[in-house]
Amino acid sequence: MTNQKPEPTTTNSGIPVSSNEHSLTVGPDGPIVLHDHYLLEQMATFNRERIPERQPHAKGGGAHGHFEVTHDVSGFTKAAFLQPGTKTDVLARFSTVAGERGSPDTWRDPRGFSLKFYTTEGNFDLVGNNTPVFFLRDPMKFQNFIRSQKRRAANNLRDHDMQWDFWTLSPESAHQVTWLMGDRGIPKTWRHMNGYGSHTYMWVNAQGERFWVKYHFKTDQGIDFLPQDEADRLAGADGDYHQRDLFDSLEKGDHPSWTLKVQVMPYADAKDYRFNPFDLTKVWPHGDYPLQEVGRLTLDRNVTDYHSEIEQAAFQPNNMVPGTGLSPDKMLLARGFSYADAHRARLGVNYEQIPVNRPKSPVNSYSKDGAMRIDLAADPVYSPNSYGGPAPDVEKYPEDAVWHSDGELVRSAYTLHAEDDDWGQAGTLVREVMDDAARQRLVDNAAGHLADGVSEPILERAFEYWRNVDTEIGDRIAAAVAELKDGE
Ligand code: NDP
Ligand code: HEM
Repeated sequence: MTNQKPEPTTTNSGIPVSSNEHSLTVGPDGPIVLHDHYLLEQMATFNRERIPERQPHAKGGGAHGHFEVTHDVSGFTKAAFLQPGTKTDVLARFSTVAGERGSPDTWRDPRGFSLKFYTTEGNFDLVGNNTPVFFLRDPMKFQNFIRSQKRRAANNLRDHDMQWDFWTLSPESAHQVTWLMGDRGIPKTWRHMNGYGSHTYMWVNAQGERFWVKYHFKTDQGIDFLPQDEADRLAGADGDYHQRDLFDSLEKGDHPSWTLKVQVMPYADAKDYRFNPFDLTKVWPHGDYPLQEVGRLTLDRNVTDYHSEIEQAAFQPNNMVPGTGLSPDKMLLARGFSYADAHRARLGVNYEQIPVNRPKSPVNSYSKDGAMRIDLAADPVYSPNSYGGPAPDVEKYPEDAVWHSDGELVRSAYTLHAEDDDWGQAGTLVREVMDDAARQRLVDNAAGHLADGVSEPILERAFEYWRNVDTEIGDRIAAAVAELKDGE
């Protein structure tokens, strides 16, 4: 509450108006006149408030913060924002994958973990998840995968039958599905989950040496999860539970943080590593490539306008700054195209001029015109030119995040590395990482999901799928489903 006189209301053109409550009419009960531009503006801008939601990851929230480098990784990367002591502004957005913009935060789903680093050499975006692996290893299947997780054509309902149909016909999904049906499938809050770059990326140091790297943002709040029944309750009681938690924490001055650790693989190791190091359904076991500390990400400032700062945020995995790069992971290479395309469709071609997406370093591109252009173009508008227009500095910024590649053009699965398979690492997760209580919750969660609308022959295929992960866990899930069905 304030006793100060408020600013006068204006139209969007800044013209003071005389009433926020009464339309302009012919006498008190007479018809509204067409030249009440203020009323027209109210109706017209309201009709245009919604923009298309993100195709996947529509429901989310986020905050501003910063990243500070605490350890020296300059031997692996020359990226300016990764040099010791450097502090960089960051925007973070967390999300669920399958639900629409108003869907409950506590549905079982992977969580998106998107970061935009506003570095001195352009925006670096890491668009990851709270899991180190993914359901697929080929982008050709991604669109169908997402459709199987969203809604059916006829009844517009989400449907476990089509989810398990797709998963069991795509055995490469087993590692991620095991993860999803375990405790980490429903984090307690966004603050209580890790973030992973998931893919293998590249780092290049000042000498031009290349390394493969995996990013792990480990929560400093500790991992915590919601049991299924509590998540179900919250889905009804407070669909925005995770969003509320993050916003309220920051308002209270409780600033969540994550420690960035990386696994680093020398460039030459990739060829003969026991797993295909670019297969997104696999982790690199820590015993092979231990975690090395880099720095700390802290979120410390809520947005003031959700729409402008989160809904219009555009994260894109192709945003790699000098000293960083992509890798031969087919999924990552496809994502390198898909996101910028999605932004152009969702936000318009000049989406990088929206303040939240705008780099905090100079932009000297030759892009020009287009809808909603804000930056003024300047001559010369073409390259090469004789008038001092921007030109690449190849000595300072060589094309060095590259790799050797040759072979016939083929459409094939990865088969070249000794331990490439669909089930092994999922089995390790069940047998060696989970304890008895976590395994029991995995059985309960998977059985509950399967007993809810999955039909034959998909159900029997799902039991086989789990037996391939681990014979005992498959048998236990089959028995638990039978018990649930008997009790119906
Ligand atoms: P480690 O024992 O070194 O690491 C196990 C990892 O599992 C830890 O990072 C731990 O994360 C995580 N974890 C613990 N409980 C669960 C759970 N219920 N669901 C999912 N993850 C959990 O083993 P390895 O590196 O040899 O990997 C063994 C298996 O662990 C893998 O097959 C993979 O499924 C899983 N894993 C591996 C990761 C990797 O990058 N190597 C990362 C995460 C999981 P935290 O420390 O955060 O608790
Ligand atoms: C969002 C495509 C795989 C994480 C999106 C969007 C598209 C997309 C089109 C919406 C973007 C927008 O409108 O802003 C794809 C394709 C994939 C793929 C084609 C595989 C070929 C992945 C993987 C991860 C991931 C493997 C995580 C490791 C995310 C996240 C978002 C997102 C976190 C939300 C971004 C935000 O917060 O704005 N994806 N995706 N995606 N995707 Fe993917």
